[in-house]
Amino acid sequence: MIYNQWYVILESKELGKSKSVKVKRLNENLALWRDENGEVCCISDKCCHRGASLSCGKIINGKLECPFHGFIYDKAGNVRMIPANGKNKPVPQTMKIQAFKTFEAYGFIWLWWGDDDKTEKEPFFFKELEHFSYATLKDHWAVHYSRAIENQLDVVHLPFVHKSTIGRGNRTLVNGPVVIREKELITFYVNNVKDDGKTVPLKPDEIADYEKLFHLQFHYPNIWQNFISEKIRAFAAFVPVDDENTIVYIRYYQKLIAIPILKELFNYIGKISSIIILRQDKRVVITQLPKKSGPKMDERLIMGDKPIIEYRKHRQELIESNSRNPNENLS
Ligand code: FES
Ligand SMILES: [Fe+2]
Repeated sequence: MIYNQWYVILESKELGKSKSVKVKRLNENLALWRDENGEVCCISDKCCHRGASLSCGKIINGKLECPFHGFIYDKAGNVRMIPANGKNKPVPQTMKIQAFKTFEAYGFIWLWWGDDDKTEKEPFFFKELEHFSYATLKDHWAVHYSRAIENQLDVVHLPFVHKSTIGRGNRTLVNGPVVIREKELITFYVNNVKDDGKTVPLKPDEIADYEKLFHLQFHYPNIWQNFISEKIRAFAAFVPVDDENTIVYIRYYQKLIAIPILKELFNYIGKISSIIILRQDKRVVITQLPKKSGPKMDERLIMGDKPIIEYRKHRQELIESNSRNPNENLS
């Protein structure tokens, strides 16, 4: 995973007020709960005493109690009380576990995966979506999150994987695509057309007025949006669980309809269509080998794969420039 980044890890509604939650994200087992102010707390899910899972414990006055011998943890990962030693006995400073910074907004919880002194104030989000309503779909894919992301950057697969839905019309010929990267944001413009047997696909720099074309955006490390129209968007967050598993959150966003019940119905229908499209993708993507993509793969890419090439290239640059330790195994 790319170090020193904010990652979407969970939807806000998945973390209630009274119960801690156990999740695996970024190869870490995490215990999450909310303190008395409703703020998200996130620590490693392994008690420093004898290794029990803390997420099975109770929340007491905004802190988390280990279910085994009752050690009390604060949100910084410090043990604040050891019952067997007495309520008022000071706790040695070595009694602590790793804590993670979190950020909550737009119905998502982010985790800072990186060095504390490099923490960016807040994660990037497609802020215009704040004015849309949405419905969410959550799905598990047995692939590394890089494969799931690359699928959403793939314009070549549309007439094959989505023949019956968004890829209707047999537009197999891929012009470009034009790929524009501004810092961590990739925008790519799609222009698939029918193949009449004579037309040669246009190279990216041969496409005039590309800004008028249908386009999609990805922002590192793990969010994406599809501009279906000015008032309708598909959004996805690709949440890394470990090297072979990803949780995909798909949201159908719209601001066409604001009337309460109609809005929910419209969003629900949008969500169902997202499920159908996503399952078409998943069926193929989970068969890809290896399960994780990288800069040097035994794959023969073509011009239409330009967004994927750009994603891999910049991802590797980010991994290398944010590595914790040059000798560490980069993933
Ligand atoms: S294992 Fe957690 S308090 Fe003993
Ligand atoms: Fe797809």
